[in-house]
Amino acid sequence: MVRRTLLALAITAATVPASGGRVGGVVRHCAARSALLPRMSSPALPDALGSAARDALLRASDVVRASSASLASAQQLVREAQLQLDASDASASRWTALRRSALARVLALDRQAYLAMVGELAGRLPRSELPNRQGVPLSPGASAQAIVRADGAIDDCTLANVTYAESPLDVLLLRVFRACVRDEIGYASDQPAMAGLAEEGRTYMLRASEAEQQQMVVNVLRRLFTPVGPPFYRIFMSGIWGERRLGPWFWAPALTSWVTPLFFKFLVGPSTPNYRADGELGGLVVEKCRFLQESGCKGLCVHQCKLPAQRFFAEDLGLPLTVSPNFETQECQWSFGEEPLPVEQDVSLPTGCLAGCPSRKALSEAKACNKCS
Ligand SMILES: *[C@@H]1O[C@H](CO)[C@@H](O)[C@H](O)[C@H]1NC(C)=O
Repeated sequence: MVRRTLLALAITAATVPASGGRVGGVVRHCAARSALLPRMSSPALPDALGSAARDALLRASDVVRASSASLASAQQLVREAQLQLDASDASASRWTALRRSALARVLALDRQAYLAMVGELAGRLPRSELPNRQGVPLSPGASAQAIVRADGAIDDCTLANVTYAESPLDVLLLRVFRACVRDEIGYASDQPAMAGLAEEGRTYMLRASEAEQQQMVVNVLRRLFTPVGPPFYRIFMSGIWGERRLGPWFWAPALTSWVTPLFFKFLVGPSTPNYRADGELGGLVVEKCRFLQESGCKGLCVHQCKLPAQRFFAEDLGLPLTVSPNFETQECQWSFGEEPLPVEQDVSLPTGCLAGCPSRKALSEAKACNKCS
């Protein structure tokens, strides 16, 4: 019975397409973690399975091997998958899935080796298929650190602006979110949608301290989630019951990264579950942050998004969260279950303002330029 269930799990895991297969990622991961599976990868598979199921099983066993592989064998698996992908795209999804899981294994074992391997495959490995993009430069061979100009500012994102498609849910959530912000700051922009939200943020930034900005957003998040959200999340995800702390449960980071994109899209645009920098599930990468694209301001990103979100997760929901924006690409990595570094110690955050930040001029006139850094 157990074996039959695991067999079904393995076949499901192997047949769910690699790209966009969020459920597949989680199931594959569980299947790969199961100690019982390697025994099923024996070559003597019953003929009755049929060739499709047979192929699926072999694929699952590839994934299993990748997840128990040593560094050298995981690296070898990535290279083999790449050779197959270079040679033909006939079975591309099988090999991209194997490449991704083997790369995640390399990442879990040795992050430097992972970054070297991504460099080695540059140009043949689309950015969207990386298990994690942190520290991976946009153009191969470039530095992943932001370029600092003579005046201390850092270069803006040079990628073309994205036009975001809005679902009715996005429109509704943005409206509710803006109503809460308006209540908190006592100011309403007459601009529509996201442009209006960015303007409200900028206006508040000019008169509020960093701590006040963070508190404002924490208050907004509390109003949006309360009363049901936090108690429910604390019990079923963070494992907090009264004074006792039993969790976070092992599913909390991955499940959160899987559910969040739906409710999160109105603010940041599309996002995809991925692996954290430690190679574990529970990551989420925002493809190009809508709020950052609109505001073009590092201060707004750090004090009205990153820090309050991290604080809300830690204090109200009981799960650590690290938010890592990339100002060159406007991608943003959300890592659930990862303890954040204090801003002063985080070398991935550049120190200056973004060169094109609309608040820079206003702030320097207000003699408070350090606010946007
Ligand atoms: C993208 O949009 C923002 C906000 O509307 C604007 O400030 C910025 O200049 C645009 N960037 C590009 C590359 O077009």
